[in-house]
Amino acid sequence: MVKNLLSINDLTKKEILDLINFSNNFIDDEGNFRKEDLFPDKTVANIFCEPSTRTKMSFAVAAGNLGCNILDFNIDSSSIQKGESIYETIDALNLMGVDLCVLRHPDSVIRELAEQLPNMVFINAGEGSISHPTQALLDMKTIINHKSNLDGLKIVIVGDLDHSRVTSSFVEGIANFDIEELVFCGHPEMCNKYMNTDFGIYEPDMEKALKDADVVMTLRIQYERFEKDLNLDLEGYKNTYQLSSEKLGFAKSDAIIMHPGPVNYIEITEAVYDSENSVIREQIANGVAIRMAVLSRFLSS
Ligand code: CP
Repeated sequence: MVKNLLSINDLTKKEILDLINFSNNFIDDEGNFRKEDLFPDKTVANIFCEPSTRTKMSFAVAAGNLGCNILDFNIDSSSIQKGESIYETIDALNLMGVDLCVLRHPDSVIRELAEQLPNMVFINAGEGSISHPTQALLDMKTIINHKSNLDGLKIVIVGDLDHSRVTSSFVEGIANFDIEELVFCGHPEMCNKYMNTDFGIYEPDMEKALKDADVVMTLRIQYERFEKDLNLDLEGYKNTYQLSSEKLGFAKSDAIIMHPGPVNYIEITEAVYDSENSVIREQIANGVAIRMAVLSRFLSS
């Protein structure tokens, strides 16, 4: 296994499945996370240069459950505000004895940092619109929990795909499996990257896209990543692209509904979020188990 987890492409299919299977060991029969004092001598720093709730807190919970010392780096009160670079910041942490950095950054800096700081282990917790490998692992785990495996499924991803690192890492991850059909759906101005690919089809008509789907992944509009004002007719957008109970009726009756969060209820109605098909809250819990597995593997290597 590679030393750092920078991209889902760093993992083979076997390593992906091994991590997902390994993550099951961290949940007991009652569904609680096991607390194991496995790494009392390891220090993990959570460095988030973009907002986060699920990823940051689940890494913190995971590291705590494994007995690690966890440092919550606060960018707003750090010396980055005094002009220090991210390299100098992590170099300082390295000199203090930090073993592993969980890094979320708006720019693609993690690969260069990993080369510059070979004694540090890096886990990518979100790289701009490019990559979010642990999200892909927890998404694949959630699907496998419900559908046994990824082979033979029709998967639909709908929403703001262009800005979605969740989509890019998920698509890279499921490329290891025999997916029956992968359909991209959403407003044409939010799906430019996915209009002409050889791994899926773009279908702007949500009714057609959802037909007989096994898995529907919904995504919020990432307003913060648009370079110019998005003059969107919100009601028109909801009519066309919001996953409502009515539109869900086009998918298979046992289709699972996913969303990486946070949910804005523009891309999905509250009724669908709360429906029996929704596994959105399970995704959050699976994030802890996957991150316990990832931290265990990468702290041991
Ligand atoms: N899914 C996800 O990355 O959520 P956060 O931004 O809350 O970490």
